[in-house]
Amino acid sequence: MFRWNARVGASIRFSFTIQINNHHSPMPELDLPQRQATDTLMLTRFWYRALPADRVHRNQLHQASLLEIPLVIGRDRAGRPFALRDACPHRGMPLNCGRFDGENLECGYHGWQFDVHDGQCELIPSLTSDQKLKVDRIYAGSYPCEEQDHFIWVYIPDPGPPGAGFGPRSEPPDLAPQIEKFSSKYKLTYLQAEMPVSIDHGIIGLMDPAHGPFVHQAWWWRSRHSIHEKQKHFEPIPNGFRMSAHTPSSNSAPYKLLRLYADADSITTTIDFVLPNIRTETIRAGKYWFSSLTTVTPITRNHCRIDVVAAWNLFRWVPFVPNLMKFVFAKFVEQDRRTMELQAEGLKYNPHLMLIDDADRPAKWYFQLKAAHLEAKRTGAPMKHPMTGPVMLKWRS
Ligand code: FES
Ligand SMILES: [Fe+2]
Repeated sequence: MFRWNARVGASIRFSFTIQINNHHSPMPELDLPQRQATDTLMLTRFWYRALPADRVHRNQLHQASLLEIPLVIGRDRAGRPFALRDACPHRGMPLNCGRFDGENLECGYHGWQFDVHDGQCELIPSLTSDQKLKVDRIYAGSYPCEEQDHFIWVYIPDPGPPGAGFGPRSEPPDLAPQIEKFSSKYKLTYLQAEMPVSIDHGIIGLMDPAHGPFVHQAWWWRSRHSIHEKQKHFEPIPNGFRMSAHTPSSNSAPYKLLRLYADADSITTTIDFVLPNIRTETIRAGKYWFSSLTTVTPITRNHCRIDVVAAWNLFRWVPFVPNLMKFVFAKFVEQDRRTMELQAEGLKYNPHLMLIDDADRPAKWYFQLKAAHLEAKRTGAPMKHPMTGPVMLKWRS
């Protein structure tokens, strides 16, 4: 288990208790302060974005990494994507160095051949006709793989027992997440940024409301002097929480412009966070909408990547506006990336960290959700949501 230790005072020092318990026998609890490299648990049994789909070409192999698992990703002759562990089950040769004919992948070391979609071994060239090794019982590690909204998604199951080798792969319980769309015609774009911090810091940075006035300053957006008190309503949703629909703060020019353009009396924004790493934002103004699905993907335990995919039907026919929107987005993401790069310098020295109310409450919920998820997985009981009902939070930003 994995819990918060609250201490008295206006702020809460955060430290968790982690108990690694594989055999259901009591083990001493380790009470460690939050440290960026050691505490980050990367959640398995979820879909993760691996690569932008337009970078993965037919009959070609690409390397990727998710949750410290090396992957080789490609498309077969028909364009269907696949993901294999980038290590041959024979002697560990990276499979991306092999030969791929659009159907089978041949390892570059001893020529074993594998079906790219299920990882099953098809041929071992060194076998003589009287050697009866059952080739089809050998598998390369293979992962469910789907293309969705410009990304190749890969499902990462729980790790098998150490040293057990691979068998037929485990199938995902659901499809990869999709962006919600509210009309048949829309535009779609994506942005990526790599951050040298753990997934936890990437996620709490993404949901943090208090950094806006300091990190995201721009003359066309807002200045730090526009900081003011805000109240937002939050409610629990399965595996996460929602900032309930509301009219976004009117202190920014783009929102004023949007209201005018859409000729709508109300603009509503909904922001959801769900485990393991998904933030969705939906803005609706009359018949116009904007929708985004942002993920923070653990590449290694202290390195993550933010992928923002946005779809919209606003301003589809107005020249420059989509480019302008992408520019605005890119600027925000770059500001976040630069901030986390600097933060990583400070985190090297394992400082004690704090989460304060109310601005850091979403971050607390994130850690509590993660702990509750792991606890439910361990015990097999339904997950106990850390929020019992709607909550109003107040902060200045
Ligand atoms: S290491 Fe791949 S065939 Fe031997
Ligand atoms: Fe930000």
